[in-house]
Amino acid sequence: MKHVLLGISGGIAAYKSAELVRLLMRHGYIVRVVMTQAATQFITPLTFQALSGHPVHTRLLDESQENAMGHINLARWADIFLIAPASANCIAKFSHGLADDLLSTLYLAAECPVYIAPAMNQAMWHKAVTQENIKRLTQHGIMFIGPEAGSQACGETGLGRMTEPEAIVQYFTALHAAGILQGKKILITAGPTREALDPVRYISNRSSGKMGYALAEQAQLLGAEVTLISGPVQLPAINNVKIHLVESAADMHAAVMRHIAEQDVMIAAAAVADYTPDSVQPEKIKKQGEQTELNLQRTQDIVANVASLSNKPFTVGFAAETQNLEHYALDKLQRKNLDMIAANWVGQSQGGFDSDLNALHVYWHNGEKAFKMTDKTQLAKQLLTLIVERLNA
Ligand code: PMT
Repeated sequence: MKHVLLGISGGIAAYKSAELVRLLMRHGYIVRVVMTQAATQFITPLTFQALSGHPVHTRLLDESQENAMGHINLARWADIFLIAPASANCIAKFSHGLADDLLSTLYLAAECPVYIAPAMNQAMWHKAVTQENIKRLTQHGIMFIGPEAGSQACGETGLGRMTEPEAIVQYFTALHAAGILQGKKILITAGPTREALDPVRYISNRSSGKMGYALAEQAQLLGAEVTLISGPVQLPAINNVKIHLVESAADMHAAVMRHIAEQDVMIAAAAVADYTPDSVQPEKIKKQGEQTELNLQRTQDIVANVASLSNKPFTVGFAAETQNLEHYALDKLQRKNLDMIAANWVGQSQGGFDSDLNALHVYWHNGEKAFKMTDKTQLAKQLLTLIVERLNA
């Protein structure tokens, strides 16, 4: 069951949030409510306490409520943070990182997906500064539901009405009910490649495949039809995931191209060799002298080739970096024509190659989001949720 933290800011649409709580609960969500002082002028906390079955939080420094559930705990408790209605003032505070009341402080503390259902006068909605704030929050990965057009409480007509509670609840149930990737086809590459030098030796890297396999498993659990193209790894097969085992970068390229048609998403988590020996010696290479040279040639860039297809899927690359993470990741995003890139530090004591843990900084055009160090299963869920949000955006 999902925990929804519902933030209510001051505006006449606050009355709609009573119905929203009722509908969310009817669909199995557990709801806790936070109200700004202005919101309490429009509708009483008691209404929401009665509907949600939990005390309503209204003040940042409220000793009784801090004891019951402090603001950090409240932020941690939430699986979804929904602000409905969100006033222009509340959006402006979020956009500028102000934390002068409970709602804005919770926004800063929340690490779960944040959804905003704005409600305001149409002129306030169209004001350049409001639009700049919305653009900024969108770039930080915040999702907006609405607003809708129509007649407004102030007597004007235009864009700014809060989306109706039924439509908001439908949005969430569609997102969660069938699995957020239901009906989607996803191709994932994982693991290292091996570039043969002779019958017994190869060039490779330290990728274990754990990141790519975690993505494949979680995508399948979220309802996707998953095709996994895997380099040589020591990991068990995954239920309901088609795995195609490959060895070299050329094999991986061929397998990806064979399966890419009709994919909705490609995630390139594999650590593919950038260079491969000019030729594979048919016999074991013999020792000769103190030094030797290898002639290498560039491999094909698999993810870039996918991203150049005319009917390309939503293409997500990874960037493994030991320095200048952001600079190199953005360069790859641009150069390879990707929709998104998940950058990770590698070569450090924790995370990256051959570790159960990882942290990611994800970039897309005009947006970014950081995921803290955690196990790769958890991280896979977070990345897939973000991919779905960007696909739907
Ligand atoms: O496998 P694990 O041990 O769990 O480790 C996970 C990981 C560190 C390998 C993974 O999180 C990761 O970062 N994978 C990408 C590693 C990499 O090769 O990064 P890159 O910056 O060199 O390549 C950029 C992107 O281009 C990647 O999406 C890569 O898959 C892709 N690429 C690179 C070369 C090539 N010839 N074809 C490609 O598709």
